[in-house]
Amino acid sequence: MKARGVVRVPGDKSISHRALILGALATGRSRISGILHSADVSSTASVLRSLGVAVPDLASTFTLPGKGLRGLRAPGSPLYAGNSGTTVRLMSGVLAAHPFESRLEGDTSLSRRPMKRIAEPLTAMGARFEFAREDGLPMTIYGGRLMGITWNTRSASAQTKSAILLAGLVGGVQVSVIESQKSRDHTERMLTSLGAPVETEETMVSLSPVDSISPLDLDVPGDPSSAAYFVAYAILGGGETTIPGVCINPTRTGFIDTLAEMGARIVCEERIAAAGDSVATIVARKSSLVDWVLDRARIPSMIDELPLLACVAAAARVTLEVRGAHELRVKESDRIAVVARNLRAVGVDVEELNDGFIVKRRTKPLAGRIETDGDHRIAMSFGVLAALQGSSIEIDDPGCVSVSYPRFWEDLKSLHR
Ligand code: S3P
Repeated sequence: MKARGVVRVPGDKSISHRALILGALATGRSRISGILHSADVSSTASVLRSLGVAVPDLASTFTLPGKGLRGLRAPGSPLYAGNSGTTVRLMSGVLAAHPFESRLEGDTSLSRRPMKRIAEPLTAMGARFEFAREDGLPMTIYGGRLMGITWNTRSASAQTKSAILLAGLVGGVQVSVIESQKSRDHTERMLTSLGAPVETEETMVSLSPVDSISPLDLDVPGDPSSAAYFVAYAILGGGETTIPGVCINPTRTGFIDTLAEMGARIVCEERIAAAGDSVATIVARKSSLVDWVLDRARIPSMIDELPLLACVAAAARVTLEVRGAHELRVKESDRIAVVARNLRAVGVDVEELNDGFIVKRRTKPLAGRIETDGDHRIAMSFGVLAALQGSSIEIDDPGCVSVSYPRFWEDLKSLHR
């Protein structure tokens, strides 16, 4: 019988980026505690500093003096977003409404990711974008006076939705975003809690003009995407695991909901509201799973956990079919190709589809070397498999987890002492 373990996961990445950005735009001093300390969130902090915001060192609790909605100053040099898509896409909305020029740059992975999805609506609102290549970074934004807009997004993307909402907020114009499926809704929840007039109706969200937003008083809840790795480890036999303080916003719980339907023993206890979102203690135990075809409607609420679900299916010796997940091709890596290649590398039969994959029932032990392509979620997903008894897996670049969860390996190790 394995020991019981407790892991406290770091603050939610999506909420952490938004806390810094909305704190910078607020009138007054925000108090923020429990923010994620990671490379991605540091990218947002340093971009904001280059725009004149006095973001302090990201301690466990800190205060952030806001500049008001239109108080950013022109940057003296290019804004570097590292690996962080959320930094570039959300900040593009803010910058589109400021009357100056900003050039955005990123690392090799981020430079390959599509930016037209935010440039198109922001251009329709009145900003101008210049790309060094066809799409992607480097990209220069010439911001200024904006017009209101109603925009239909092509695929569910909280980053695109948030860019438009933030452009509307800073530009002082009415915006509406209509999605095919609802993406994570932290921006609209946080804006509402700061006094902005947000209306949501099914997959449409609208924001009306406002002169200012209030400062935040926020305890960032634990990240459900980080908790997912320990839920997976527990159900695959790593020992009963308790994860307190996890955000269980319904736009983020697709992974645990799906695993529960597949037969996993997962309990969410102590639901208490925090920061406009519910927070729970999650307890997960060793479980048997069944073969599964993922409902496409679930995909937006577990987009970052799909590589992990593929690894869980492989370890649990069940088949898993995922279709309709074309967005995975344009994440930090091409996650469809990278998941398929690495599952094969550890002895699992996988069919790669244009928009997903079919993981076949495993017959061999899990053994081999993982090439992460520098993608944090690939490293952590296969890291869970590497920690299971009987597997023999090596990860080429374990350090890439610093993007979202620098202490991941220590926390995983603490569970299998
Ligand atoms: C995020 C939205 C998602 C997600 C990313 C974080 C956010 O991206 O994959 O890790 O904080 O808004 P998309 O908006 O591209 O779906």
